[in-house]
Amino acid sequence: MGTEARIEHLRELREEALHSGTQRAVARQHEAGKLTARERIEALLDKDSFQEIDQFVRHQSTGFGVEDKKPLGDAVVTGHGTIDGRPVFVFAEDFTVFGGSLGKVVADKICKILDLAIDTGAPVIGLKDSGGARIQEGVDSLDGYGRIFERNVQASGVIPQISVIMGPCAGGAVYSPALTDFVFQVDKTSHMFITGPDVIKAVTGEEVTMEELGGATAHASKSGVTHFVYPTGLDALEAVRHLVSFLPRNNMEMPPYYAPGDRTDRLDDSLDTIIPDSSNQPYDITKVIETVVDDEEFLEVHELWAKNIVVGFGRLDGHTMGVVANQPAFLAGTLDINASEKAARFVRFCDAFNIPIITFVDVPGFLPGVDQEHNGIIRHGAKLLYAYCEATVPRISVITRKAYGGAYLVMNARGIRADLVFAWPSAEIAVMGAPGAVNIIHRRELSGADDAEARRTELIDDYEAKFNNPYVAAELGLVDEVIEPRETRVKLIRAMEMLRSKRETLPPKKHGNGPL
Ligand code: HXC
Repeated sequence: MGTEARIEHLRELREEALHSGTQRAVARQHEAGKLTARERIEALLDKDSFQEIDQFVRHQSTGFGVEDKKPLGDAVVTGHGTIDGRPVFVFAEDFTVFGGSLGKVVADKICKILDLAIDTGAPVIGLKDSGGARIQEGVDSLDGYGRIFERNVQASGVIPQISVIMGPCAGGAVYSPALTDFVFQVDKTSHMFITGPDVIKAVTGEEVTMEELGGATAHASKSGVTHFVYPTGLDALEAVRHLVSFLPRNNMEMPPYYAPGDRTDRLDDSLDTIIPDSSNQPYDITKVIETVVDDEEFLEVHELWAKNIVVGFGRLDGHTMGVVANQPAFLAGTLDINASEKAARFVRFCDAFNIPIITFVDVPGFLPGVDQEHNGIIRHGAKLLYAYCEATVPRISVITRKAYGGAYLVMNARGIRADLVFAWPSAEIAVMGAPGAVNIIHRRELSGADDAEARRTELIDDYEAKFNNPYVAAELGLVDEVIEPRETRVKLIRAMEMLRSKRETLPPKKHGNGPL
């Protein structure tokens, strides 16, 4: 064969590889409202940037007639490309080939991508749409999942890992996304579960649909497995690009700088009136966050789960910040099991990837309840405490209103080594709320007194006058500066400039033993 013919042969093979799924399978994919693996990659990456790897891989298995069906590339498309000019690796399970199921060579391809991503220090994005372990290959495909899980763990904290669930993702296969940093789900067309509706019905008698059990809404609002939900695959992929814009390529680099369209000396008077006169009235903390960050651009993570705490990414003077904030508009901003876990994971992500953390504090305490205690609020609350204590990135707190008791400490107080603590004049920093405090310290005086109620009110007023302000803490140096709310952005930008060169290391250890 001459050179030209050889090149022509290569072109034919390449063309064949682009159409590994049958026309019927592609049509079914589109009818189901889903894009193909290649269409997804094209939407995710910068135009023409995709470089495919292992396009000609074929499975080597036999039996069940699979030896007669050996599509090029098998059931996953893998390679690298760029997002906003920055390198990323991608693997997209191809549902049009063997239902995207994972056999040995599919696992080999994904492992190669994960190894390259770890070695070169670039984020990896997995687009998931698969019937799970390839049934015909048996234990070989289970082993493939094992090899992927192990690499997901090695990559954790080294490169950002993002999973986008765009079709089925069932059984043990869900553990790869669960090990990654962020999970996206496409509404209505994606489902995740360990055991499906049929098995559940057989074992427990419960009747549940796929959507109720493992749809995007269920995981985004109930289980907390999913961080982001979007109505279509294209929306989800666009959102992945947005998320990547906040992240460094790996743990040895800083996040990218994006010049803000916003002034660094911008004051915002609206913040001076955002705190209601009554300290029991709610307000929306996301308004505060959006006012403070560059160009009001705030990417909220886990928006639908544990709404009593808000976490997400924004920028200050062009630099990525992680924001953690109690949400007084939901459960009064108390910390409960889910909120603690949500914020803990986010703080750990930020710390692993050199993203400074800003914490807005308005917390009346932990959520009381037998349910919370018996489900382990002690253990789960400790996760957030642990995460902050371990974080060596710059950490600044802004106490907007309540900061009570243990929750005050957990929310990045000076005692757990916050770098700077600002407080608004509306801050109330105390061991507990005034009524509770008075009932305890004046119990003897109040019990049986004729004028107990009047005296109680008087004592509560006294206690509030003494402690419901930031100045006791400021006198002790536990608040570094009491600031006008309108100055918050300016103060945070100046403080972050100062902290940019912060260096802190933890004592050498194999790893800690946090309350997982
Ligand atoms: C081999 C599979 C497959 C699988 C689907 N296919 N799943 N082939 N192994 N696991 C094939 C089908 O035979 C079919 O091939 C094509 O993919 C499309 O599948 P359909 O069933 O026609 O599609 P749909 O109706 O959309 O249903 C999708 C589905 C269903 C819900 C995912 O296929 C399904 O239930 N599959 C089995 C899921 C499963 O039980 N997987 C094993 C889970 S255990 P043709 O040639 O007809 O087009 C697991 C453990 C992992 O994954 C453990 C890790 C530790």
